[in-house]
Amino acid sequence: MKLGFIGAGEMGGAIIKGLLKSGWPKEEIIASVHSPSSAERLQGEFGICAGTQNRQTVTEADMLFIAVKPGVVPQVLEEIRSSGAAAKPVICMALGWTLEKLQAALPGWPVVRIMPNTPLALGEGVTLFAFGKDISASQRADAQAVFARLGQTVELPEALFDAGTAVSGSGPAFVYYFIDALAKAGVAQGLQPEQAVTLAVQTTVGAAKMVEAEKADPAVLAQKVATPGGCTAAGLDVLKTKGLDEALRDTIGATVDKARAFANK
Ligand SMILES: NC(=O)c1ccc[n+]([C@@H]2O[C@H](COP(=O)([O-])OP(=O)(O)OC[C@H]3O[C@@H](n4cnc5c(N)ncnc54)[C@H](OP(=O)(O)O)[C@@H]3O)[C@@H](O)[C@H]2O)c1
Repeated sequence: MKLGFIGAGEMGGAIIKGLLKSGWPKEEIIASVHSPSSAERLQGEFGICAGTQNRQTVTEADMLFIAVKPGVVPQVLEEIRSSGAAAKPVICMALGWTLEKLQAALPGWPVVRIMPNTPLALGEGVTLFAFGKDISASQRADAQAVFARLGQTVELPEALFDAGTAVSGSGPAFVYYFIDALAKAGVAQGLQPEQAVTLAVQTTVGAAKMVEAEKADPAVLAQKVATPGGCTAAGLDVLKTKGLDEALRDTIGATVDKARAFANK
């Protein structure tokens, strides 16, 4: 199955990188981008066929991935619609591009809305899925199998897509922010910046793996490591009174509101 990427910057590039790392053959990936220099970089970095002609990608690929900025999507959809190519699955990852909008622009084409996140370049991603009405069971399975190579796939009712987008699509930024703040707090107590970052990163990785391995409620794990009257408990008390829960609730709320505004444009 040949995968065709229209747009291959931050996100499209992360997906291609992850797929190649997972063993997907480079001959089975084609990409088209805006500038010849980006196409050359993709050829050099990944050894894939890359150019600036979207029509070639549409014609040659078995499954299409739209990874351009949301404002460029109308132009790309029009290129796909007028290509004369047989209908094939079109998987769009652009923020705000609902199934309704995709189906209206590509009547009769099987469309899929996804929201990936960048850790998929390391095989540790999460990709959210919502499927259009014209997609067959085998096309669904094929689309999910591509992303299962890059981490977890989760199907959501489209009404929950913005909430999922806030937690996993934007989530890496919030976690990076947390790691940075944890490291800076260590520096404020005298640690060297480099050491503090190492401690904060490895602790975040290790704690996430513990939650995964123990299949435990993270709130219960937090209590387990906090001996009453001990130093961790003293720190957790401050997190609670300063309102980390409330800050995160508002963070996710603001992200969802913005995602909805894009979808309603
Ligand atoms: N970044 C994330 O973490 C993330 C997460 C989830 C979803 N997304 C979604 O992914 C999409 C891409 O975001 P990004 O961060 O990867 O953007 P980006 O880094 O700016 O990449 C955009 C890509 O689109 C190409 N492009 C521009 N105009 C084009 C055209 N007319 N035809 C074909 N290719 C064209 C660009 O080519 P040049 O390099 O030649 O300009 C570039 O390869 C967005 O819709 C975003 O909502 C992003």
